[in-house]
Amino acid sequence: MKKVIGILAGSLRKESFSKKVSRALVGFAPEGFEFRIIDVSNIPIYNQDFDDENQVPQAIARFRSEMAAVEGVIFVTPEYNRSVPGVLKNAIDVGSRPYGKSVWDKKPAAIFSNSPGNLSAFGANHHLRQSLVFLNMPAMQQPEVYISHVSDLFDDEGNMKDGTTKDFIKKAVESYIEWYSKNAL
Ligand SMILES: Cc1cc2nc3c(=O)[nH]c(=O)nc-3n(C[C@H](O)[C@H](O)[C@H](O)COP(=O)(O)O)c2cc1C
Repeated sequence: MKKVIGILAGSLRKESFSKKVSRALVGFAPEGFEFRIIDVSNIPIYNQDFDDENQVPQAIARFRSEMAAVEGVIFVTPEYNRSVPGVLKNAIDVGSRPYGKSVWDKKPAAIFSNSPGNLSAFGANHHLRQSLVFLNMPAMQQPEVYISHVSDLFDDEGNMKDGTTKDFIKKAVESYIEWYSKNAL
């Protein structure tokens, strides 16, 4: 049986670089692993009444069951206002409840942050790490995956161009898989 790693992109827009990185990652899964993109686009904003009143929207139930089926997570996040985009934070919040039934617990995670500029979404990367501590997700420390100038990384068809950044991302995936194998419970 293949180990399934969920890939979550923190952007909804059609031409999102985070989505393009996510799609490229799917092709980098080594033997014995499946990298599965988990769609976060239709998840309603979390309202605790959903759980308290047993009226969980279908899209939330679906997301939780999709996440329950993965054994590790790679977050591919851009940065909004020096933090994690709301769509990704909302997915994290939705998956963390009801209390005691978090879909994140103990799942080894990696964060691949990216930006069109120089700073590579460093702020989002580290704010996300703060949530992972509380969610009890071990997070890969090294290599830190900061992808700058992500807008230069794709050709017109949305394929990742060959070069040092692609090589670095592939190596980061290899490191994650090696580290995952030691940290999976
Ligand atoms: C609301 C908003 C806030 C943003 N804040 C930041 C920021 O703090 N740092 C940054 O590097 N880029 C920021 N950007 C620019 C994004 O890095 C850029 O739009 C990027 O392409 C978004 O990721 P995506 O391509 O995956 O959609 C912001 C964009 C938006 C729409």
